[in-house]
Amino acid sequence: MTTAPEHGSPETPASALRSRLDPEPVPRRDFLGLAALWASASTVLFATLGIARLPKAAVLSSPSRKFKVTLPEALPAGEAFVPPGRSVALFKEAGEVWAVSTVCTHLGCIVKSSATGFDCPCHGSGFAKDGSVTRGPAPTALKWVKVSAAGGDVIVDEGESVPLGTKVSV
Ligand code: FES
Repeated sequence: MTTAPEHGSPETPASALRSRLDPEPVPRRDFLGLAALWASASTVLFATLGIARLPKAAVLSSPSRKFKVTLPEALPAGEAFVPPGRSVALFKEAGEVWAVSTVCTHLGCIVKSSATGFDCPCHGSGFAKDGSVTRGPAPTALKWVKVSAAGGDVIVDEGESVPLGTKVSV
Protein backbone atom coordinates (compact mmCIF):
# COMPACT_ATOMS: atom_id res chain seq x y z
CA MET A 1 0.00 0.00 0.00
CA THR A 2 1.34 3.37 -1.04
CA THR A 3 0.58 6.49 0.85
CA ALA A 4 0.68 10.06 -0.47
CA PRO A 5 3.48 12.11 0.96
CA GLU A 6 2.35 14.10 3.91
CA HIS A 7 1.81 17.84 3.53
CA GLY A 8 5.07 19.65 4.52
CA SER A 9 7.12 16.50 4.72
CA PRO A 10 10.70 16.67 3.38
CA GLU A 11 9.82 14.70 0.29
CA THR A 12 7.01 17.03 -0.84
CA PRO A 13 8.03 19.23 -3.83
CA ALA A 14 7.45 22.96 -3.27
CA SER A 15 5.21 23.24 -6.35
CA ALA A 16 2.86 20.67 -4.86
CA LEU A 17 2.37 22.81 -1.72
CA ARG A 18 1.09 25.89 -3.58
CA SER A 19 -2.54 26.55 -3.95
CA ARG A 20 -3.90 27.12 -7.44
CA LEU A 21 -4.91 30.60 -6.25
CA ASP A 22 -1.35 31.65 -5.34
CA PRO A 23 0.35 33.80 -8.00
CA GLU A 24 3.08 32.17 -10.04
CA PRO A 25 6.44 32.83 -8.44
CA VAL A 26 8.60 35.20 -10.49
CA PRO A 27 11.91 33.67 -11.44
CA ARG A 28 14.89 35.64 -10.15
CA ARG A 29 16.06 36.55 -13.66
CA ASP A 30 12.62 38.00 -14.52
CA PHE A 31 12.50 39.86 -11.21
CA LEU A 32 15.86 41.54 -11.92
CA GLY A 33 14.69 42.44 -15.42
CA LEU A 34 11.52 44.03 -14.06
CA ALA A 35 13.51 45.91 -11.40
CA ALA A 36 15.82 47.31 -14.08
CA LEU A 37 12.83 48.33 -16.18
CA TRP A 38 11.20 50.13 -13.25
CA ALA A 39 14.47 51.85 -12.34
CA SER A 40 14.86 53.08 -15.92
CA ALA A 41 11.25 54.25 -16.11
CA SER A 42 11.49 56.15 -12.83
CA THR A 43 14.79 57.73 -13.89
CA VAL A 44 13.16 59.03 -17.08
CA LEU A 45 10.12 60.22 -15.12
CA PHE A 46 12.16 62.14 -12.52
CA ALA A 47 14.46 63.58 -15.18
CA THR A 48 11.40 64.85 -17.07
CA LEU A 49 9.98 66.39 -13.90
CA GLY A 50 13.34 67.99 -13.19
CA ILE A 51 13.52 69.49 -16.67
CA ALA A 52 9.97 70.80 -16.31
CA ARG A 53 10.95 72.54 -13.08
CA LEU A 54 14.07 74.21 -14.49
CA PRO A 55 13.93 77.99 -14.30
CA LYS A 56 12.53 79.57 -17.40
CA ALA A 57 14.35 82.29 -19.26
CA ALA A 58 13.93 85.56 -17.43
CA VAL A 59 12.37 87.55 -20.21
CA LEU A 60 10.59 90.49 -18.73
CA SER A 61 8.10 92.48 -20.63
CA SER A 62 9.18 96.05 -21.01
CA PRO A 63 6.66 98.83 -20.70
CA SER A 64 5.21 100.20 -23.89
CA ARG A 65 7.20 103.04 -25.37
CA LYS A 66 3.95 104.87 -26.09
CA PHE A 67 2.21 106.18 -23.00
CA LYS A 68 -0.24 108.79 -21.79
CA VAL A 69 0.81 111.51 -19.37
CA THR A 70 -1.20 114.03 -17.42
CA LEU A 71 0.99 117.07 -17.02
CA PRO A 72 0.87 118.71 -13.60
CA GLU A 73 -1.37 121.80 -13.59
CA ALA A 74 1.28 123.81 -11.80
CA LEU A 75 4.15 122.92 -14.14
CA PRO A 76 6.11 126.17 -14.56
CA ALA A 77 6.70 127.27 -18.13
CA GLY A 78 9.91 125.86 -19.55
CA GLU A 79 10.45 123.48 -16.62
CA ALA A 80 11.05 119.79 -17.33
CA PHE A 81 8.60 117.17 -16.12
CA VAL A 82 9.95 113.62 -16.22
CA PRO A 83 7.21 111.00 -15.81
CA PRO A 84 8.26 108.35 -13.27
CA GLY A 85 10.06 105.42 -14.87
CA ARG A 86 10.38 107.13 -18.25
CA SER A 87 13.38 108.56 -20.04
CA VAL A 88 11.76 111.61 -21.52
CA ALA A 89 11.36 115.19 -20.27
CA LEU A 90 8.17 117.05 -21.10
CA PHE A 91 7.89 120.81 -21.35
CA LYS A 92 4.84 123.01 -21.53
CA GLU A 93 4.89 126.64 -22.50
CA ALA A 94 2.44 129.03 -24.12
CA GLY A 95 -0.08 126.30 -24.89
CA GLU A 96 2.47 124.01 -26.50
CA VAL A 97 4.14 120.83 -25.29
CA TRP A 98 7.22 119.01 -26.44
CA ALA A 99 9.31 116.12 -25.25
CA VAL A 100 13.08 115.67 -25.12
CA SER A 101 14.68 112.28 -24.59
CA THR A 102 16.81 112.03 -21.47
CA VAL A 103 19.07 109.37 -22.98
CA CYS A 104 22.54 110.82 -23.41
CA THR A 105 23.80 110.66 -26.97
CA HIS A 106 27.31 109.80 -25.81
CA LEU A 107 26.91 106.33 -24.29
CA GLY A 108 23.28 106.21 -23.26
CA CYS A 109 23.26 107.27 -19.61
CA ILE A 110 20.14 109.01 -18.36
CA VAL A 111 20.73 112.73 -18.03
CA LYS A 112 19.51 114.69 -15.03
CA SER A 113 17.43 117.83 -15.32
CA SER A 114 19.19 120.97 -14.09
CA ALA A 115 18.42 124.69 -13.92
CA THR A 116 20.03 125.27 -17.31
CA GLY A 117 19.01 122.06 -19.06
CA PHE A 118 20.43 118.60 -18.54
CA ASP A 119 23.65 117.20 -17.13
CA CYS A 120 24.93 113.71 -17.77
CA PRO A 121 26.25 112.06 -14.60
CA CYS A 122 28.45 109.61 -16.50
CA HIS A 123 31.02 111.68 -18.40
CA GLY A 124 29.89 115.22 -17.78
CA SER A 125 28.08 116.17 -20.96
CA GLY A 126 25.77 119.14 -20.72
CA PHE A 127 22.67 119.92 -22.73
CA ALA A 128 20.45 122.99 -22.99
CA LYS A 129 16.71 122.67 -22.37
CA ASP A 130 16.14 122.20 -26.08
CA GLY A 131 18.56 119.26 -26.00
CA SER A 132 21.44 120.94 -27.83
CA VAL A 133 24.94 120.10 -26.61
CA THR A 134 26.58 122.71 -24.39
CA ARG A 135 29.44 120.53 -23.20
CA GLY A 136 30.96 117.32 -24.58
CA PRO A 137 31.74 114.54 -25.01
CA ALA A 138 28.17 114.01 -26.26
CA PRO A 139 28.40 114.18 -30.07
CA THR A 140 24.83 115.25 -30.84
CA ALA A 141 21.81 116.88 -29.27
CA LEU A 142 19.25 114.95 -27.26
CA LYS A 143 16.45 113.51 -29.43
CA TRP A 144 13.04 115.06 -29.47
CA VAL A 145 10.28 112.47 -29.33
CA LYS A 146 6.78 112.44 -30.74
CA VAL A 147 4.04 114.02 -28.66
CA SER A 148 0.35 114.27 -29.44
CA ALA A 149 -2.52 115.84 -27.54
CA ALA A 150 -5.28 113.61 -26.19
CA GLY A 151 -7.95 115.65 -24.47
CA GLY A 152 -6.24 117.24 -21.50
CA ASP A 153 -3.49 114.62 -21.58
CA VAL A 154 -0.45 114.09 -23.71
CA ILE A 155 0.55 110.91 -25.53
CA VAL A 156 4.28 110.40 -25.79
CA ASP A 157 5.89 107.91 -28.14
CA GLU A 158 9.46 107.38 -26.96
CA GLY A 159 10.12 105.12 -29.92
CA GLU A 160 9.54 107.82 -32.51
CA SER A 161 11.81 110.82 -32.82
CA VAL A 162 10.81 114.08 -34.44
CA PRO A 163 12.87 117.03 -35.73
CA LEU A 164 14.26 119.30 -33.03
CA GLY A 165 11.83 122.10 -32.22
CA THR A 166 8.65 120.11 -32.99
CA LYS A 167 5.97 121.30 -30.57
CA VAL A 168 2.30 120.39 -30.30
CA SER A 169 -0.57 122.64 -29.25
CA VAL A 170 -2.65 121.46 -26.32
S1 FES B 1 27.04 108.88 -21.40
FE1 FES B 1 26.61 110.92 -21.10
S2 FES B 1 28.51 111.88 -21.26
FE2 FES B 1 28.95 109.81 -21.56
